[in-house]
Amino acid sequence: MSDLVVRVLDVDAAYARPTVLSAVDVDVARGEFVGLVGPSGAGKTTLLRLLTGGVEVRSGSVEVLGQRVVRGRPPRGVGYVPQLGSVDADFPLTVREVVLLGDAASSRPVPWFTRDERRRADALLERLGIGELAGRPIAELSGGQRQRMFLARALARRSELLLLDEPTSGVDLATRAEVLRLLGELHHDGLTVVLTTHDLNFVASHLPRMVCVNGTVIADGRPREVMTADVLTRTYGPGLRVVHDEDGHPVVTDAAPIPLHSGTDHASGGMPVAAAVVTPAEVDA
Ligand SMILES: Nc1ncnc2c1ncn2[C@@H]1O[C@H](COP(=O)(O)OP(=O)(O)OP(=O)(O)O)[C@@H](O)[C@H]1O
Ligand SMILES: [Mg+2]
Repeated sequence: MSDLVVRVLDVDAAYARPTVLSAVDVDVARGEFVGLVGPSGAGKTTLLRLLTGGVEVRSGSVEVLGQRVVRGRPPRGVGYVPQLGSVDADFPLTVREVVLLGDAASSRPVPWFTRDERRRADALLERLGIGELAGRPIAELSGGQRQRMFLARALARRSELLLLDEPTSGVDLATRAEVLRLLGELHHDGLTVVLTTHDLNFVASHLPRMVCVNGTVIADGRPREVMTADVLTRTYGPGLRVVHDEDGHPVVTDAAPIPLHSGTDHASGGMPVAAAVVTPAEVDA
């Protein structure tokens, strides 16, 4: 069997009339850890949903874990953690039930799970640090807790490919670090991981591969090669610049700091704000 878990070949994708993604080519090999970046509305979520059968494939082909994917036919073996806020949290289910329902092998109606299935769900919730929330209605969870619940659900599927939509947005720093640590562990255990994020600097310093998206794939490769001022301008438009940290990792910064002309910066002892802004040493432009 091919070692490619994702093969997207020359795909145009759309929800309704206008095409959201055009001429997209992306392959992901088993064991990769890929960061998808791009501005809001660029099509990052759409690209993930393309891999789960949530979007119409107008032309080209999508193959995931050896299965041809079309709209309405989600492939097996894929765990999907949706973007926070994109799910109806008022659904009358408990945390444990959401995790149990994620197990594709078990298609029983909600109350009739076996003791083993429940035990496994609880163990996953425990691993994600929300074991004590198993019996709670999902409406009562915070954003970060809900994020972990969806991660537990994705793991309950015994997934080989984990797709996460902005797993670190809208959660506090400790949760963010914990989620990233967990993803690192899962990747180490052999899972292929694709995530979207707005955190370019996280991708640049931690992930081996970055895919820049804006309606199509603008650039794809090692962050050191991909994250240049030119690629960022083509992806996000003007206004970002790239410097390098002491390890040579690219770091993106705003080219134009917030223009607080009239005030003074109390933290810098009354210096005018503009003068207190540190200028990057090395500008990659
Ligand atoms: N269910 C939908 N029906 C119709 N159009 C949609 C739907 N979901 C997204 N779109 C449109 O598709 C385009 C890409 O949206 P997408 O959600 O993929 O962007 P994104 O890169 O994930 O953005 P963000 O960073 O804000 O999450 C946008 O123009 C959006 O309005
Ligand atoms: Mg999105």
